[in-house]
Amino acid sequence: MPIILGIETSCDETSASVLEGSGNDVTLRSLVILSQDIHKVFGGVVPEIASRAHLSSIVPVVSRALADAGIAESELDAIAVTHAPGLIGALLVGVCYAKALGFALDVPVVGVHHMEGHLFATALENAGAVPPFTGLLVSGGHTLLLDVESWGSYRLLGATRDDAAGEAFDKVAKLLGLPYPGGRPIEALAKQGSPSRFRFTTPMVRRNDPPSSDEYYAFSFSGLKTAVLNAVRGSDDIERDKADIARGFQDAVIASLVEKTFRAADAFGRSRIVLGGGVACNSALAAAMAKRTADIGATVFAPSPRLATDNAAMIAHAGLFRFELGERSPSNLNAFASLPIPGLVAA
Ligand code: KG4
Ligand code: ZN
Repeated sequence: MPIILGIETSCDETSASVLEGSGNDVTLRSLVILSQDIHKVFGGVVPEIASRAHLSSIVPVVSRALADAGIAESELDAIAVTHAPGLIGALLVGVCYAKALGFALDVPVVGVHHMEGHLFATALENAGAVPPFTGLLVSGGHTLLLDVESWGSYRLLGATRDDAAGEAFDKVAKLLGLPYPGGRPIEALAKQGSPSRFRFTTPMVRRNDPPSSDEYYAFSFSGLKTAVLNAVRGSDDIERDKADIARGFQDAVIASLVEKTFRAADAFGRSRIVLGGGVACNSALAAAMAKRTADIGATVFAPSPRLATDNAAMIAHAGLFRFELGERSPSNLNAFASLPIPGLVAA
């Protein structure tokens, strides 16, 4: 069975992983994730700092992943690396390193789309999270609703028109004086909040919206962010209100994500729903999704936090799929800040 090294440096995690297997039958031999804490003091990721941190971490992170797996470099059959989308300088560190290592070892390199990686993450720990399924990818940079007929065949149903779901969590956290990244602190605060004090309108959801409508599967979170800003400004005691505001905000985001995903699973007759991306760490999201889709007989698969957020294991898994299809990236493989997910079929 092939052994593949995955490398991920698209944002602020330097990660490497060794995966062994074929198709959906894979064993995660190791996963190392080094998160760059430095960005916390700036309240967001500083691209230049991220690139420099990747540069100093990439060699030891890969060495650690190989050592943890008990694998020598010479045993690798392929190297998968995130080459898009993401911060260009950060991506380049991973891509250049992967190409140099591949050249030195005479091993093929496979460039992987970061969002395709997120789709493959849950299958690493749950054999049921394989196509056909409805996929919801919710991260700091993306909000994508996809129908996945088979691996490599993705129908893009909906995306955000403005802020990504995770970005909305991060911005609202800032408004409420919570640390970056804001998803986890908002989830914790919302648990203590009342669901009835701040009822924000569910974005992009209208009753009796026809499936032909442009908005049927689309997302938007910037209006909700403004509504939260108004609630914060209108509060005469923010310490008293902030948990309730966090709860109202989280409920509105979840209601929108759940409704669109339900519509997609129902329309395509999918019995599996696979979540991915950092916002998939949110346990209220997974619970609400399972509740709403139970009556159409759907099972919801959410990755564990270390596989939901950025990691190289998902890149190795998606890379293994492409490697087994015979794909090899040329030696001039480049990094791209944005790039459509490969294998898109017409909506
Ligand atoms: O996938 P990811 O690690 O990185 C990107 O590719 O963007 O996602 C990070 C995002 C951040 O916006 C963070 O606030 C959000 O995921 N996040 C959460 C939770 N944990 C992380 N959002 C909501 N609830 C959480 N528990
Ligand atoms: Zn991501």
